[in-house]
Formats: sequence, C-alpha cells, structure tokens
Amino acid sequence: DELDVDALRAWILDVPNFPSAGVLFRDVTPMLADAEAFGRCIDALAAPWQDAGVEAVCGIESRGFIFGAALARRLEVGFVPLRKPGKLPPPLVEVEYALEYGRDRLQARSGILDGGLRTLIVDDVLATGGTLAAAHELVTRLGGLTVGAGVVIELSALGGRARWPRELPLRALLDY
Ligand code: PRP
Ligand code: HPA
Repeated sequence: DELDVDALRAWILDVPNFPSAGVLFRDVTPMLADAEAFGRCIDALAAPWQDAGVEAVCGIESRGFIFGAALARRLEVGFVPLRKPGKLPPPLVEVEYALEYGRDRLQARSGILDGGLRTLIVDDVLATGGTLAAAHELVTRLGGLTVGAGVVIELSALGGRARWPRELPLRALLDY
C-alpha cells in the first residue's frame, strides 16, 4: 500500500554535488541491495499495470534496465532494452534528444515491437523528461504502442512531466 511505498525513501540516499557541483543525486543502489525493499519496489511498479494488457517492457540504459527487467518478469512479458549509441548491432532505429547540455540518442532493434505491441516504458528517475519522451518516440518508431510509463523517482521541481504526452499515464513511486 501507499505507506509501504513511502517507506522506500529510507533506502534512497541523497548525495550532494554528484555528478557535478550543485546537483543533489538520489542514489538507489542501497534499495537494490536490500531484498525486501527491492521486491517491494518492483511490486509497487507493477501494481498499476496488472490489468493494463502490457505485452512488453522497455527499459532505458542503464539504470532503467535493472528495474525494467525485474518488472518484465513480474508482469510475465518480454524485455526490450533502449540503448545508448554504439551498443547494439544493426538493424537499428534511433531517436535523438536534447540533454541539459548537448544531445544524446537512444537505439533499439528495428521492428522489435511490431504489430502495435502494448509497451510499458520504465526508468529509475524522471528529471527534465527528455529521456522518457525520447523513449516514447522510439517505441512508436519500433512499431509499438506506449500504454504508459513507470519511474521510481520523479524530481518534480525539474518539470519533466510536462514533456510526457498528457493523454498517457505516467506513474512515479516517489516524488522528490
Ligand atoms: C539518468 C536517469 C534517466 C535520465 C533522466 O540517466 O537514469 O535515464 O538521466 O534524465 P532526464 O529526465 O533529464 O532526461 P543517465 O543518463 O545518468 O544514465 P545512467 O542510467 O546510465 O546512469
Ligand atoms: N539521481 C539519479 N539520477 C538522476 C538524477 C538524480 O538526482 N538526476 C538525473 N538523473
């Protein structure tokens, strides 16, 4: 229930000035290392999608892989990694997107969600929202249908939710 989810905060560490000065980094590794907390986190990520007809989970490199793969098993569907450039062999489809400074790309295997596979996108943190919006665009180009997104942590002050399509559900376990 709600109380259990909020208790996960105890396993998320605040690290000032990482990876650069002025950034307060939320570190989920202590939560991953605790069997009960990690299990509760995956259960909570899965709960809203239990009856949503999800057919695939897409996880965003690299921390999104950890939560996404566990969630895919929990929902008993396949897992598709959305990767940074240079990691996957062809044939590929890619989406370029803006970072706070500069640009990056996400790639995945061409056609891997063909037939309008109902797809849930997963990541650890929603910050400025550019990554999650790019993932949605990539799912579309892969032939899939995005049913929604799930993240562990939403950094609300950065306003990333505004870049996510308003008609699609975006569930965050914890707001910071
Ligand atoms: C972090 C985080 C999200 C993204 C969120 O990934 O895991 O994927 O940034 O940022 P945004 O909402 O501003 O786009 P990072 O690039 O640090 O990669 P990592 O998971 O490999 O550490
Ligand atoms: N913590 C972890 N990942 C992140 C953060 C953060 O504060 N901001 C962007 N990605």
